[in-house]
Amino acid sequence: MALITSKEMFKKAYEGGYAVGAFNVNNMEIIQGIVEAAKEENSPLILQVSAGARKYANPIYLKKLVEAAMEESGLDIVLHLDHGEDFEICKQCVDDGFTSVMIDGSKYPFEENIELTKRVVDYAHSKGVVVEAELGRLAGIEDAVNVDARDATFTDPDQAVEFVERTGVDSLAIAIGTSHGAYKFKGEPQLDFERLEAITKLLPGFPLVLHGASSVPKEFVDLCNKYGGEIPGAAGVPEEMLRRAAKMGVCKINIDTDLRLALTASIRKFFVENPSEFDPRKYLGPGRTAIKDMVAHKMRNVLGCSNKR
Ligand code: G3H
Ligand code: 13P
Ligand code: ZN
Repeated sequence: MALITSKEMFKKAYEGGYAVGAFNVNNMEIIQGIVEAAKEENSPLILQVSAGARKYANPIYLKKLVEAAMEESGLDIVLHLDHGEDFEICKQCVDDGFTSVMIDGSKYPFEENIELTKRVVDYAHSKGVVVEAELGRLAGIEDAVNVDARDATFTDPDQAVEFVERTGVDSLAIAIGTSHGAYKFKGEPQLDFERLEAITKLLPGFPLVLHGASSVPKEFVDLCNKYGGEIPGAAGVPEEMLRRAAKMGVCKINIDTDLRLALTASIRKFFVENPSEFDPRKYLGPGRTAIKDMVAHKMRNVLGCSNKR
């Protein structure tokens, strides 16, 4: 087993019409829950670390925990930097042994995004590391229903082709209506599949990435609501839409919010039922199991990546 790049993984996913889950990790229990699921499901796996996660856990801990998980499980794992905001953090992660980095230049004008991405690609490729970039901006709740805002923020298919050609990037995160967090849609959930199809047609065989792809399962929201601290208005991407995207060139689907919900719902429930307990293992253990079950469900029933290792 080893830390591997996503190159072969994406090729197989693209050809097989499924997507690989990229799960955000912040501590040991989250890593263990995800990796146990991947092992049971015999699934390819991407673990991703944000700048916030590095700050919270200290980069060395996360790297060592992922290595431990890899050694213990015998799985090959892609270790990916999520939303790298500048060249320096991408370089740091490449130098630290990550096998994949994301440079997120989506907030910059097109030419600046290209320039920044190309700089990261040149450095990462010289060290055998793959790069994800982002073009277009993920919609806010308002943008999704406003046609002008859509055109201004969603990924332009022709620009995507030019961006990929000029940067040499290995995968591209696109904006088609998803957004980060638990509040993705006000009314009917809607993704711009026509746009996705247009991008896939212009970039055949090229792996696309969907951020903001948590489904915000009702079962976890209900649990959170029932056991205190309501999260009203939560709405995620319907699983059916993710299945559809996975068959249309989307090879990597990012999930963080659903992990947070699974863990938090489990812990809230525990404390309502066991108000006097204070041994962290007693509530983090079931939290880890909740993460494992949720990730296994995604792999088997949504992403289609079970038994694709
Ligand atoms: O897309 C962002 C991920 O959910 C990571 O969130 O920056 O709070 O770690 P974070
Ligand atoms: P969610 O907030 O929908 O889980 O998206 C996570 C993500 O895109 C991480 O990069
Ligand atoms: Zn993201």
